[in-house]
Amino acid sequence: RLQPLVLGIESSCDETGVGIVRGTTLLTNTVSSSMDEHVRFGGVIPEIASRAHLDAFVPTLRQALSDAGVDLEDIDAIAVTSGPGLAGALMVGVCAAKALAVATGKPLYAINHLVAHVGVGLLDGQSPAGKDSASDRSAATHGAVAPRLPDNLGALLVSGGHTEILKINRITDDVELLGSTIDDAAGEAYDKVARILGLGYPGGPAIDRLAREGNPKAIRFPRGLTQPKYMGTAEEPGKHRYDWSFSGVKTAVARCVEQFEARGEDVPVADIAAAFQEAVVDVITSKAVLACRENGITDVLLGGGVAANSRLRELTGQRCASAGIRLYVPPLDLCTDNGAMVAALGSQLVMAGIGPSGIRFAPDSSMP
Ligand code: KG4
Ligand code: ZN
Repeated sequence: RLQPLVLGIESSCDETGVGIVRGTTLLTNTVSSSMDEHVRFGGVIPEIASRAHLDAFVPTLRQALSDAGVDLEDIDAIAVTSGPGLAGALMVGVCAAKALAVATGKPLYAINHLVAHVGVGLLDGQSPAGKDSASDRSAATHGAVAPRLPDNLGALLVSGGHTEILKINRITDDVELLGSTIDDAAGEAYDKVARILGLGYPGGPAIDRLAREGNPKAIRFPRGLTQPKYMGTAEEPGKHRYDWSFSGVKTAVARCVEQFEARGEDVPVADIAAAFQEAVVDVITSKAVLACRENGITDVLLGGGVAANSRLRELTGQRCASAGIRLYVPPLDLCTDNGAMVAALGSQLVMAGIGPSGIRFAPDSSMP
């Protein structure tokens, strides 16, 4: 029996994405971004993003079908991000998907963007930790193949809106939250610290690059919620044993910059970037590995925009290896927002025999 051919549509933020998968095989991942139009505002402007999706959708769809060598009639199912995200931006993708579903008579699946970020790790040929060259997809395909839904599967989701460690009982409908940030998401902290350091927007990639020139040990920034009163013990866990807080490290960076300026000294921007990144990545990975060990998780999917971060990929790889945990790291282009992840999760739903969503659902910008 042929594996389902699934078309995925993503429009929750600034990326218009159309991806096509066959079962767990990626056929194409076509993305058009409106980020260039948002840069001068220092953040994504919802109205501009929505209009850009309108312009980009049909060309992106055409490109994806042609790259995959697929006719619309051959598609078995359509999947679309229905939340969370920017309401107007989501609306464009959802309306486009409904129109396609009605016009072609294909079943439509509403997809949670966050679950899709980690579900992308179930596509064939995910790179094991460390092999993170985006251009070298062939190297990735020689790595370990993510097992089809192993029993003890977890996910570390690190994006601009979320930082979560999840236990995945069934990726289709049973995902348990073990821990999360209690304030800023990690990507948000990267973006805010980049602004403090004058690095522009979006900040994550800029800090990632600059940190390579800095000394991560030059300054020690705080690791939030690691004090014994929050951690407790394995037997008697504290309230925030698996939770993170990133607002403290952001404030510490701001204070550090002020101190250099008050003394009339040059601000060591690269050292601060490296030390900030080390603090964030250290606490993300140490708590994620702890949560996995104490909850019997043996296989972990890494996902979300910050999963593109070179130090996070490296340290998660090292610490999971030491703990005997198998880690699946998507190539860079599948970490940031894209349609392939939506198709990948849609395909899991089809293969699990779960019914389509119909066309009456509404986008939900604050979907949990
Ligand atoms: O998942 P995503 O594309 O959008 C959300 O759903 O939030 O994540 C975007 C976030 C932004 O905060 C961006 O700064 C961050 O991911 N990001 C990075 C890197 N690339 C993107 N953060 C750190 N290092 C990177 N290389
Ligand atoms: Zn995202």
